[in-house]
Amino acid sequence: MPMQVVETTTELRTRVADWRRSGDRIAFVPTMGNLHSGHLQLVSRAQLQAERCIASIFVNPLQFGQGEDFDGYPRTLDEDAKQLREIGVDLLFCPAVAAIYPSDMAVHTRVEVPGLSTILCGGSRPGHFAGVATVVCKLFNMVQPDIAAFGEKDFQQLIVIRRMVDDLGIPVEIMGVETQREGDGLAFSSRNAYLDADERRRAPALYRTLRVAAQRIRSGETDFDSIEKDALDELRKAGFEPEYCSVRSSVDLSTTRPGSKDLVILAAGRLGRARLIDNLRVTLP
Ligand code: PAF
Repeated sequence: MPMQVVETTTELRTRVADWRRSGDRIAFVPTMGNLHSGHLQLVSRAQLQAERCIASIFVNPLQFGQGEDFDGYPRTLDEDAKQLREIGVDLLFCPAVAAIYPSDMAVHTRVEVPGLSTILCGGSRPGHFAGVATVVCKLFNMVQPDIAAFGEKDFQQLIVIRRMVDDLGIPVEIMGVETQREGDGLAFSSRNAYLDADERRRAPALYRTLRVAAQRIRSGETDFDSIEKDALDELRKAGFEPEYCSVRSSVDLSTTRPGSKDLVILAAGRLGRARLIDNLRVTLP
């Protein structure tokens, strides 16, 4: 059956109810569109987990701050729908803003994940993770999937969503999917489209820097402050305006204690018009 494209919750629920009656499990991949190989990998992994796969495309205004790129965010619905159809997605949900936020967005109920929402990317993007948690919670209520896939590229987002689901008892299994990269190491991101040719050439420095930091940790260095500082210097040399580079616990993003073994190094920075993020996990023996 060809992929169905629906814009309303009523149509979505009718189709989901049919599938549930037939005993099908449902996997869900929420996106903001402008799909790249990273998103397609999320879909492929989700499809292995359930009989039915639903994707959504919604550029969520609530997760963009003042002066951020909500208006200019690339919107490529026809091309996205074509790609999703080709890889066998069963249903694409692409609601209008009014379907998700029927009343004044400023007074809309929000889902806050305290602590996790204000560190790292949350420090420079106040309200961002409340916007993400709110829309993901709403989409989960609308789609009611068994499992949902999120990219590990936005590692903090993945941890925020896992915490939200645990805290609110939402019966959706959260699956993290490894970051997809270009040949030179740059993580796929819709925001890579903002890079000009020179910036694109410099951009792989982000992943390179994370790999150097990871190598230092693996070889036994424990002075994470110095590793973070050197990483920021490297990023500056490559033309970035770095925001942070931080070694954290990969379980809950807490600052690491001596003896921590499951680590993640996260970094964010601006390169021209693009704000790029990346991370690398390090598991010590
Ligand atoms: O990662 C994204 O594309 C978005 O933050 C998400 C999870 C679709 C929520 O709008």
